Amino acid sequence: MSIWGKLAKHQRATEGRHMLDLFADDDHRAAEFSVHAGDMVLDYSKTCIDTEARDLLVQLARDSGVDVRRAAMFGGEQINETEGRAVLHVAQRADDDAVITVGGDDVMPRLRDIRARAYAFAEDVRQGRFRGQGGAITDVINIGIGGSDLGPAMATLALAPWHDGPKVHYVSNVDGAHIADTLKGLNPETTLVIVASKTFTTIETMTNARTARDWMAGRVSDPAAQFAAVSTALDKTVDFGIAPARVFGFEDWVGGRYSMWGPIGLGLMIAIGAQQFDAMLAGARAMDRHFSDMPLEQNMPVLLAMVGVWHNQICGHATRAVLPYDQRLARLPAYLQQLEMESNGKRVDMSGRDLDRQSGPVVWGEPGTNGQHAFYQLIHQGTRVVPCEFLLAARGQEPELAHQHKLLVANCLAQSEALMCGRSLEQARGIMAAKGLQGAELDRQARHRVFPGNRPSTTLIYPQLTPFTLGQIIALYEHRVFVEGVVLGINSFDQWGVELGKELAVALAPLLDGDAAAMATKDPSTRQLLGYLRAHQ
Ligand code: F6P
Repeated sequence: MSIWGKLAKHQRATEGRHMLDLFADDDHRAAEFSVHAGDMVLDYSKTCIDTEARDLLVQLARDSGVDVRRAAMFGGEQINETEGRAVLHVAQRADDDAVITVGGDDVMPRLRDIRARAYAFAEDVRQGRFRGQGGAITDVINIGIGGSDLGPAMATLALAPWHDGPKVHYVSNVDGAHIADTLKGLNPETTLVIVASKTFTTIETMTNARTARDWMAGRVSDPAAQFAAVSTALDKTVDFGIAPARVFGFEDWVGGRYSMWGPIGLGLMIAIGAQQFDAMLAGARAMDRHFSDMPLEQNMPVLLAMVGVWHNQICGHATRAVLPYDQRLARLPAYLQQLEMESNGKRVDMSGRDLDRQSGPVVWGEPGTNGQHAFYQLIHQGTRVVPCEFLLAARGQEPELAHQHKLLVANCLAQSEALMCGRSLEQARGIMAAKGLQGAELDRQARHRVFPGNRPSTTLIYPQLTPFTLGQIIALYEHRVFVEGVVLGINSFDQWGVELGKELAVALAPLLDGDAAAMATKDPSTRQLLGYLRAHQ
C-alpha cells in the first residue's frame, strides 16, 4: 500500500478519536508534538495527529524527495521546470561569504552589489541627501501588485515600531480609488514614487505609475527625477524615463511572491533602515539553516507542511485559517494567500498529469481578537472543520500596555483550548439549569450552547515580533509551501492560473467604449453585463 493509502487508512481507523484522549494517553504529548527553531516553538499537539500518523507523514515527505529537492533549490538547479528557472530567493538573504551558482556563475556578487546600492539609496532618502523638488522626502509610494506589494506592505506594517524614515504608502489596485485616496494630502514636491514590478508590464502597476507621474507633473518640473524602479526588465524602466542610478534590478530566478528580501523591499528599507532590514534577513537566514540542516522529523517547515497535508489532503478540510494574535501581522493572511494559493493552487503535477488529490488549501484569516467577533462562530460550531493556525508573541512592543497584551494572550490560548475541549451537552445543560431553566426549554437552549470540540489548531509562539522574528516567520512559511508542493508533486513557482483573466481583461477593456462586432463574440452573460455598464457609464 502507498504511504498515501496508509495515511488514509490510519485516518479512517482513528476518525472521531478525541485529542483529549491522546493527551490522556501521553503525558509528554505537548512537548513531543512541538518543534523548536531558534527561540520559536510550533506546537501541533492540539491536532489528531498521533505518532503513527506523524511517522507516516514524515515518511511521505522523505519518499517525495523533500531533501533532494531542497538541496536542488539551495543549489541553484532549475526546479521551476515550466519556466526553466532556478528558485533562489534564499540567495537574497544568504551569508555574505556564500557562493551560490546558477549555470556555473556565482550570483552572489551581483546580489550583494544591488543590495548595497538599494541600502545606499534608502539611506540617502532617509537622511535627506536625496531630495524632492520641494526638499527632503516626506512620503514614499510603492506602486506594485501581488508579490511586488504584499510582502513589503505586510512587513512594513509588521515592523511599525522600527519606522524612523519617511512614511511609506502602498498602492496596488487598478481601481483609481486606491491611488486617489493615497495621493490626497501628499505633497508631490516631497514624494518619492517607487515603481515595483518584476516584469514592468503589469497593467495595474503601469497604469498607477502613469497616474502618479501625471499627478506630479502638475507641480514638479522633472517628475521622473522623483521616481525609482525595481524590476528585472531594465530596458522597460529606461523607457519609462527612470534614470539607471535609481533602478534596482533582480533576477528572474526570484519569484514575485518570494521577492521581499531584495530591492522589492526598497520601501521597507526606507521605512526601517538597512540595519533592521539586515536583522530581518538574518532571521530568514536562521530559518533557512534550520530548514536545510535539521532532520525531517525535527524540521519546523516540514512538520508545518505535513500537518497541513494531514488536514487538507487526508482529512479533507479544504480551508485553513491563519489567526495572528498580533495586530501588526494584520496583512499576513493576505500575504499568505498569494504565497500559498498562487504557489500550490495547481491541478496538474510536474509532468502535466491531473493531480489525484486536492491541491493546496484555501487560506484566509484575520488578526485575533477581531476575528473572534466575526467568523469564530463558524469555526467553533459550524458543520465544517477549519484547522486554525494561531501566531502569538510572548511580549508586545508597548510595555506600558502590558495588561492589554496579557488579555490578547489569554484570548489566543482560550480559543485553541475551546476548539479542542469544546463543551458537552451535559455541561451545557448544567449551565442552563443553574440559570433556572427546566424541561424542554432547558434541553432546547442547552443544545445551542454545545461546542463539539476536537477541532484542530497549531500555535506558533515567539518571544516578540522583531525584524529578526518576522524574517524567521516568513521564511518558515516559504519553506512550508515548498515542502507541500514537493509532496503534491507540483511546481510551486509558476502561476499560469493568473494569465487567462489578464488576457481577457485586455481584450474586454475596449468593449466598454463600444465595439459591436467584438461584443458579438462574447457569451450572453458578459454581453448583458457590458450592456448595463455602457448604459450606466
Ligand atoms: O498576479 C500574477 C503576478 O504575476 C504575480 O505572480 C506577481 O507577483 C504579480 O503578478 C506582479 O507582477 P510584477 O511584479 O511583474 O508586476
